[in-house]
Amino acid sequence: MTALVDTPTRPAAPAGPLTRPRTRQADRRRWQDGPTPASLADLAALTREVAAEVDAGRHGVEVDPVRRWSRRLHADDHLDVWLISWTTDQGAELHDHGGSLGALTVVRGALTEWRWSAGSDDDGTCPAEELHARGPGLRRRVLDPGRSVAFGLGHVHDVTNRALETAVSVHAYSPPLSAMSYYGVEAGVLRRTRSELVAPGQSPG
Ligand SMILES: [Fe+2]
Repeated sequence: MTALVDTPTRPAAPAGPLTRPRTRQADRRRWQDGPTPASLADLAALTREVAAEVDAGRHGVEVDPVRRWSRRLHADDHLDVWLISWTTDQGAELHDHGGSLGALTVVRGALTEWRWSAGSDDDGTCPAEELHARGPGLRRRVLDPGRSVAFGLGHVHDVTNRALETAVSVHAYSPPLSAMSYYGVEAGVLRRTRSELVAPGQSPG
């Protein structure tokens, strides 16, 4: 990954996407996506790099059939990175990411995302009755292995593993998640149902 933000001088550490020194670029485009020098493209690239590490066996993955399993791989003032496994039907209900930008890359398995969108760019494979059941405004896409997606401010989605195979994904948030709101859709209208603070180290939704 290229530069993200200024960080204090630190002892030398092995090179890698989570340990590489990050320096602020004199590039105002980095601030265009939100209140962080990390752009959506930076976060997506970071999750791709860490996903490659996971694929190479450098981070242990566990599976919990009862609760979605997650492990925080990295945390600093500007960024946190999570590794998550999803067994069949494990998921996160419709939510946003507060004031954080986010991105994820699927390592293996597949995740189904429904996101609030005024557009019509569903994945084209969703049965009409399922689209109808979720109502207008929600669009589906299936995220296959290697797929990366980024979440700008205001991105509202739910994510679930609808497949038999356990899914594994890498997520990054900047600034680190500190609050999330949850939503329901009634008659095609998005309604916030509650908001919650996210404690440092608390698994993302
Ligand atoms: Fe999310």
